[in-house]
Amino acid sequence: MLTVRVVMRRLGIIGGGQLALYLCEAAQALGVEVAVLAEPGDAPALRRADTRFIAALDDIAAIDRFLACCDVLTFDKEAIPDDTLLHLAAAETQGACVVLPRVDTLLMLKDKGLQKTWLVEQNLPTLPFKLLSGNSVSLDELTGTLGRSLVQKSSRGGYDGRGVQVLAPITSARELWDVPSVVEPYLTHCREVAVIVARSASGAVDIFPPVSMNFDTRLNAVLSVTVPAGIGADTAGEAQQLACRAIEALSGVGVFAVEMFLTAGGELLINEISPRVHNSGHLTLQACNVSQFSQHVRAVLDLPLLPSRLLSPAVMLNILYRENDRAICPREPSVQALPEPGATLYWYGKTPGHPGRKMGHINAVGRDVDQALVRAGWRCPPARYGGRVDRAAGDRRSDQRNPLAGRRRHPVDSANAGGGACRHGRH
Ligand SMILES: Nc1ncnc2c1ncn2[C@@H]1O[C@H](COP(=O)(O)OP(=O)(O)OP(=O)(O)O)[C@@H](O)[C@H]1O
Ligand SMILES: [Mg+2]
Repeated sequence: MLTVRVVMRRLGIIGGGQLALYLCEAAQALGVEVAVLAEPGDAPALRRADTRFIAALDDIAAIDRFLACCDVLTFDKEAIPDDTLLHLAAAETQGACVVLPRVDTLLMLKDKGLQKTWLVEQNLPTLPFKLLSGNSVSLDELTGTLGRSLVQKSSRGGYDGRGVQVLAPITSARELWDVPSVVEPYLTHCREVAVIVARSASGAVDIFPPVSMNFDTRLNAVLSVTVPAGIGADTAGEAQQLACRAIEALSGVGVFAVEMFLTAGGELLINEISPRVHNSGHLTLQACNVSQFSQHVRAVLDLPLLPSRLLSPAVMLNILYRENDRAICPREPSVQALPEPGATLYWYGKTPGHPGRKMGHINAVGRDVDQALVRAGWRCPPARYGGRVDRAAGDRRSDQRNPLAGRRRHPVDSANAGGGACRHGRH
């Protein structure tokens, strides 16, 4: 007799960006109904959701109406107000719905200070750091332990490099933002890798292959992601084990991105853990037998995880908004095959905004990373790709873009996919 398992649970997603958009599609492909609660403004996921809510994330009455449409609730971002998270935890206790990742996981990971402290408590390798409550600090004390080349990160509210400033070298404590923050040494000559880990509600784990992330050093934003990471099989295995150890220590449920630095000496240090699907996992849509989005839906609904496999070397190029790109950015989300074989263009349908805003991405597969890069339209000579070279040997500062301090400054000629981005990358 044929038994068909029909998934009937309703999934709620808080946040309506491109991550929610692809979560929506993955859930619907599994027969799951999706409700999305998005803040007013751009929300590509609302175009796909079965049920739509537009409300501020601290509008508890709207959250309650939304909860009535969900059996399981998840997120496309970690910047959810604490009071809302606590309300969700209370609603969960009363049996209103299941919240995954768990509220305590989100409360800890959304604060970079709490996260770094937790990493140390768990004996997970990370850069040394100091927690600051503002900028009334002794420079000598700070640089005495951490050195003069520093990175300051707002404890809360940062994303895509916003809330991160490089002070290399720092010359005065006044250069520090006057906000609660984490300060750590600026690491040179390192590579950046990420590992996506999925852990289901019943504890099953799947680990995706490590990817290499290449950054715009002014925006501190990801330009491109490649797989295989080109770090050797042993280091790749170590990165997967370290990522898995971190998510097991969290007892995390869902998909998590573990971002790491690989130092020139071959040491892996956890930079940060994101409790959600992540930009570094977009290439799983083409490169793997299961995408990070589908695996997240499976994990939170406690469906069997698929053992992930790399089908092909691949690359993902972010399309970051540049001034004057307004006319070419479609207002509807779309997916289209590019003329090059194996290359696909994803538009998020977002309104053009600040330079550096993620408007879409290109995924391309190939017989190797170099071919995938060419197919995706990357304009740098492949030989320059991989690793990281800093812009200047001396003074090294990123643009100061702290969302909390209100001192944003945006470079005009931000890098763009295929648009000569090498200039700024750490290749
Ligand atoms: N200590 C460091 N040394 C060198 N570069 C760093 C350091 N910390 C951060 N960076 C650079 O800045 C980027 C952004 O930092 P981080 O990941 O901490 O912030 P974020 O804005 O939360 O990131 P995301 O883009 O994942 O949202 C890093 O990926 C890295 O390129
Ligand atoms: Mg990061």
